[in-house]
Amino acid sequence: MAEFTLPKNSRIGKGREHKAADGAKNRKVFRIYRWDPEAGGNPRLDTYEIDLDRCGPMVLDALIYIKNEIDATLTFRRSCREGICGSCAMNIGGTNTLACTRAISDCGGEVPVYPLPHMEVQKDLVPNLEHFYAQYASIKPWLQTETPAPPDRERLQSKEDRAKLDGLYECILCACCSTSCPSYWWNGDRYLGPAILLQAYRWIIDSRDENTGERLDQLEDPFRLYRCHTIMNCTNTCPKGLNPAKAIAEIKKLMVSRTM
Ligand code: SF4
Ligand code: SF4
Ligand code: FES
Repeated sequence: MAEFTLPKNSRIGKGREHKAADGAKNRKVFRIYRWDPEAGGNPRLDTYEIDLDRCGPMVLDALIYIKNEIDATLTFRRSCREGICGSCAMNIGGTNTLACTRAISDCGGEVPVYPLPHMEVQKDLVPNLEHFYAQYASIKPWLQTETPAPPDRERLQSKEDRAKLDGLYECILCACCSTSCPSYWWNGDRYLGPAILLQAYRWIIDSRDENTGERLDQLEDPFRLYRCHTIMNCTNTCPKGLNPAKAIAEIKKLMVSRTM
């Protein structure tokens, strides 16, 4: 259940300040959420002034620069550095996005950097995604067939059917959309949220999958699907330009059409 009063130990305090070296000409300030479970205590906002002439153009470059040159304790996830793995998802300047594809030049003024909202924080900018991945596993994200023996060649698909997967297969499961969704904030324990529902639709609409009815049965539930109230935060924030709200609407349409 949602809690409406912040626990005392979640209030963010003032943190440490790190100034750029004397002579830096191209300064930019990042205010970064810090919390260390081993140290205990409340989270804090640390301030890092960095010299942009000494780091790459993306917010992730700035974080890597801070970790390498200023403060090795700063903790965040990243892997591909090109918007493919989804691990650097965080809240930058008030928007959920990928640090590796967010240009520093597009961030005006001082740049606040927080972990994805409404998730349990493991440390600094690292959220706990265990429940999110368990929800992903619950939709059985693989091709399911009734055919007893596998065919002796690949399962073919028309160009038209293949095109139905466009706008769905590109999802990198970064969780930016789900963690921007107010319905997911309040009911994330039971509502699957936009990322997982987009993934569910990806398999429902796949012409090669033979378990469409069962997949829809699994979603026919007041919480799993119908907590979406078309607020559209998900679509507005997706760093891959996808439209989870539309995928959810398509599932709802399929639910209606199969009862007619
Ligand atoms: S739909 Fe977009 S925001 Fe949501 S998980 Fe997929 S890539 Fe990330
Ligand atoms: S459209 Fe649905 S899934 Fe997307 S943010 Fe709104 S309530 Fe959440
Ligand atoms: S590091 Fe892989 S998406 Fe940013």
